[in-house]
Amino acid sequence: VFYDARGSAIYEEITDLAVYYPTRAETEALLQHADAMVDALGDGRPVSVVELGAGTALKSVILLRALHARGATTFVPVDVSPTALSLACERVAREVPGVQVHAIVSAHEPALAALPPHDGQRLLLFLGSSIGNYEDPAAIALLRHMRHAMRAGDALLLGTDLRKDIPTLLAAYDDPQGVTARFNLNALVRINRELGGHFEVGRFRHQALWNEEASRIEMHLMSLGRQQVRIDALDLVCTFEDGETIHTENSIKYDTAHVDRLLEPAGLVRQASFHDAGHRVAVHLIRPG
Ligand SMILES: C[S@@+](CC[C@H](N)C(=O)[O-])C[C@H]1O[C@@H](n2cnc3c(N)ncnc32)[C@H](O)[C@@H]1O
Repeated sequence: VFYDARGSAIYEEITDLAVYYPTRAETEALLQHADAMVDALGDGRPVSVVELGAGTALKSVILLRALHARGATTFVPVDVSPTALSLACERVAREVPGVQVHAIVSAHEPALAALPPHDGQRLLLFLGSSIGNYEDPAAIALLRHMRHAMRAGDALLLGTDLRKDIPTLLAAYDDPQGVTARFNLNALVRINRELGGHFEVGRFRHQALWNEEASRIEMHLMSLGRQQVRIDALDLVCTFEDGETIHTENSIKYDTAHVDRLLEPAGLVRQASFHDAGHRVAVHLIRPG
């Protein structure tokens, strides 16, 4: 719901925010460990890198560079946002020339089911702690789809955000410049445009909160006053009480045991985990079980 062209552009702004540590931390982990990851991965065959929710491939190029230095590498970025994907294609052509790119505009599951057969090694990438947007049963279901797209010798690199002090977490999702607020509120702008919604965006306020039991940051949009909103395409009228919220997104924060609890039922095994210096995030190297 967030990633129309405007949502993708606002997300890029978020990744530049001083308080938004996840992108910087994952970049650091990849820069520091790309060679070790590629050493652990590589079996000498050409590599086909399939990245789910690739966005603009900001961090992917770090791995692509390390892989390309050792042998033939192709890149298949998958994303629902065509705007993000065209920027990804430009970036890879500019920064890692020689890597063939074949972009797929699609949601994750249909893209995984329709990947062309490959002779070499397939490396799935799922970075940016995107897995944390899925509650555990949905995360396991998505990991199963990934498993089905893998054969012996293939691998998955999975980025996860880690549990940490609550003020740092909250600040990352509620910046003083209001960029994340704009990102969240853009969901209403999009419903207005695409579904004939009648949301007055100024009558909702962005809210980020920590849910300890579920180990997640939740993003909400809180109704300022009692209001009714019509959505023409759904023939629906929603009533919001003052202070009632629309729960728009979750971002689960993991520890290693939690990651393993997702992998095991999906038939996957964690081989190694790589971190940034501050251990804020992890990138796990995962194999078919
Ligand atoms: C949080 S951004 C992460 C981008 C990039 N992987 C990174 O780490 O910076 C999530 C990306 O996933 C895409 N996306 C969200 N849901 C998706 C889905 N169900 N299928 C495919 N792409 C999706 C969005 O368009 C967006 O580019």
